[in-house]
Amino acid sequence: MTASSLRAIVLGSAAGGGVPQWNCRCRVCRLAWEGGGKVRPRTQSSVAVSADGERWLLLNASPDIRQQIWATPALHPQAGLRHSPIAAVLVTNGDVDHVTGLLGLRERQPFVVYGTTETLATIADNKIFQVMAEDCVERSRIELGRPFEPLPGLEVELFSVPGKVPLWLEQGVVDVGEEGEKTVGVTIRAGGKRLVYIPGCARPTTEVLARLDGADAFFFDGTLYDDDEMIREGLGTKTGGRMGHMPISGETGTIAALAGVASRRRIFIHINNSNPVLIEGSPERRATEEAGWEIAFDGMEVSL
Ligand code: MLT
Ligand code: MN
Ligand code: ZN
Repeated sequence: MTASSLRAIVLGSAAGGGVPQWNCRCRVCRLAWEGGGKVRPRTQSSVAVSADGERWLLLNASPDIRQQIWATPALHPQAGLRHSPIAAVLVTNGDVDHVTGLLGLRERQPFVVYGTTETLATIADNKIFQVMAEDCVERSRIELGRPFEPLPGLEVELFSVPGKVPLWLEQGVVDVGEEGEKTVGVTIRAGGKRLVYIPGCARPTTEVLARLDGADAFFFDGTLYDDDEMIREGLGTKTGGRMGHMPISGETGTIAALAGVASRRRIFIHINNSNPVLIEGSPERRATEEAGWEIAFDGMEVSL
């Protein structure tokens, strides 16, 4: 692998809970529990990116990280007694499905954790994350709009995406769709190629659309198909809007909102187990693919 490439491996493609979710028998989860191929099992969302195929940056650390490393030979220890190709982890917010995998990376392996000041403060406020010893695991605060190079040949830039406080920190009235440092998107550049990663987005702002436009590929929030599907299926009381996630379908959904954005590949990720696009051959899956979108799966590789 030369330094002139950009490689991404989807470690996990599901939203929080995974597919199937441990306690769920919704119609999608039932098909996953049954096996038979109508619904592939999926772990919680995370993507590994590299410019040289040897050193990798993880975009978020999911609670399924140990299983994800096991399933991905490029991330196995390669030499000596202690080694990992995982050189760094970037967290896009403080959600459980994005940060708790850091706890699986204890054992005194040096690497760097990147995030905004606010997200790194959320992690620092929780003593349990001290299992990543601070004399060994560097925390690096990143400003929005300031490109940095976490690995040689790989340039990364963070930008604000409308979101909200992590679910586990919600108190009182929640400001959904606020822009700031709580939720970010990621632009990754290597070898003249550009990949964009946005696993959660409450609203398609002008900035979000501009960041996606002209990318060689992007991964985008595919949590729900319909804004009210959790309520309709009896799985919860919240709309996608309340959870900080745009739905795939509908007049204000992602397919419509991003129709004018140019990109060679557009891929839904962070897909909730209630979402019928996970059912192979479903009408929703067909409509999504006919609109030019791909559905991420664990182990999917995107080489640019
Ligand atoms: C989300 O994406 O909305 C969160 O991961 C929800 C959660 O923490 O379970
Ligand atoms: Mn999530
Ligand atoms: Zn389910």
